[in-house]
Amino acid sequence: MSKSKNDKGAVVKVAEELLDHLQVRFFQIQVDGKMCDAFLIKRDEKFFSYVNECKHLPVPLDLNAGSVLNGSQTSFQCHQHGALYDIETGLCTDGPCKGASLRKLQVRKSGKHLVISAE
Ligand code: FES
Repeated sequence: MSKSKNDKGAVVKVAEELLDHLQVRFFQIQVDGKMCDAFLIKRDEKFFSYVNECKHLPVPLDLNAGSVLNGSQTSFQCHQHGALYDIETGLCTDGPCKGASLRKLQVRKSGKHLVISAE
């Protein structure tokens, strides 16, 4: 994983072959002028990326323990109070912040890399 900066802000490049199904990569990215913890996940050959911050309270979903998924690996789960988030949309489907959404990041392919940006 490498970081670079261009005219549109910070981006993170991730080699696509590094990610297996439901594998998660954590990284930091600049969002709205501030460095944020974020993660990338691959599911069914698609990639999704979000700022790693629960919408209930400003804590990382994994509480820095390395897992943002629930036990059945069907949703993201905040390990503080159990909020569940849809993997593809980031929408909270159950828990104290139901209806709110994780901050989604843009993922695009560039050659053999994925470029993630906050725009
Ligand atoms: S802090 Fe995430 S559900 Fe409460």
